[in-house]
Amino acid sequence: MANIATISAETNTPIAVPLSERVHWIGAFDPDLRSFDIILKTANGTTYNSYLIRGSEGVAIIDTVKENFSDDFFARLESVADYSEIKVIVLNHLEPDHTGALPELMLRAPQAQLYISQKAQSMLKALLKRDGLSFTAVLTGDKVSLGDRNLEFLHTPYLHWPDTQCTYLLEEKMLFSGDVFGCHFCDTRLFNDQAGDFRFSFEYYYAHIMRPFKEYVIRALALIEPLQPDLIAPTHGPILRDQPMRYVHRYQELSQPSLGVQNLLHEKSMLIFYISSYGNTRHMAEAIYEGAMSIAGVRVSLYDLEGGEVSPFVDLIEDADALLLGTPTINGDSVKPVWDLLSSLAVVNLKNKLGGVFGSYGWTGEAVRLVEDRLRGLKLRVPITGMRVKLIPTEQELADCTQFGRELAEELMGLSKPKVIDFADLS
Ligand code: FEO
Repeated sequence: MANIATISAETNTPIAVPLSERVHWIGAFDPDLRSFDIILKTANGTTYNSYLIRGSEGVAIIDTVKENFSDDFFARLESVADYSEIKVIVLNHLEPDHTGALPELMLRAPQAQLYISQKAQSMLKALLKRDGLSFTAVLTGDKVSLGDRNLEFLHTPYLHWPDTQCTYLLEEKMLFSGDVFGCHFCDTRLFNDQAGDFRFSFEYYYAHIMRPFKEYVIRALALIEPLQPDLIAPTHGPILRDQPMRYVHRYQELSQPSLGVQNLLHEKSMLIFYISSYGNTRHMAEAIYEGAMSIAGVRVSLYDLEGGEVSPFVDLIEDADALLLGTPTINGDSVKPVWDLLSSLAVVNLKNKLGGVFGSYGWTGEAVRLVEDRLRGLKLRVPITGMRVKLIPTEQELADCTQFGRELAEELMGLSKPKVIDFADLS
């Protein structure tokens, strides 16, 4: 297959790449990027994909590029259109990697009307910092016409920001999907049937960008799947023109609950993780486990963090209803395996899961409070103050741990009794 020309052989300047007679890629390559948004690794760099659509009554630009790649974007745009022809600028997502060239584009094509999602309005004002902005905010089903080419919008929030949407080119069955179905993989061959193997990047991108918003992925797929697009054009990575529905189906698979949860629909799942220097926090964990197990309908699992890898634990936590963490206090803090697990939880949605913390300590016992604060920061519900025991738990303290487990399990099952506040306790 012939190489794709992204640079003019005559002028050595960037040129647009055709997706069809009327649609061109006018994006930029960033092969040297090694991390994106600080937290994502990008072993192959990335691309900032932008597209130009020509209709009988004007041109549309879909998304732009990161600001320092503007020269490539404008050169490619100029290779196929004049600025005076641009009627429509669609912003599927306002993150700066796709809006960096927008202010300059608006100066060069002042007649063009901006189309953004309803949720993007305040972001656009914050981004451009100017008064009197003219734009059209759209929802699913809204359309804009370029004459013999028509665009329809799909509201797909949280993929990857609240503002995100997809845009569908009806006559060519092309979906401009924003970050959805994208990946950080820079390959000048540009199309999935020609680029190198980018599967790892596609899955990694899903895991870090889309996974926390699985329910929104499922809603977006319900809009996208019936379209059966012939081509999917994301904002990063290869353009999916060979069997694009395979990528839709992969997203469907990745967004399903795991097998374990499907078998447990009648139950609530509680996971207890602990780490223990001298066995004291472990004894607390075992007592809490016994207490929680005594409540019908709660399936409790107990894990020693020292004995497992973080990644499979993250999968378990994503599907669980409650997460309890047992930690000793060492040098006034929790310990690295606990913080490693907590930092890995940024990729899953924990909102409203039940949380609880416990631990043995020698001197001051700060770890339990610190981990509780972190759980609340991750949006877990932590209804019962954590259990702390100085050094070796007594029989009474182990009985208190059992009660702690029981009460958390009752809370999980909606069985907890309203607390009666004694005013003497408030003084
Ligand atoms: Fe590619 Fe969420 O920006």
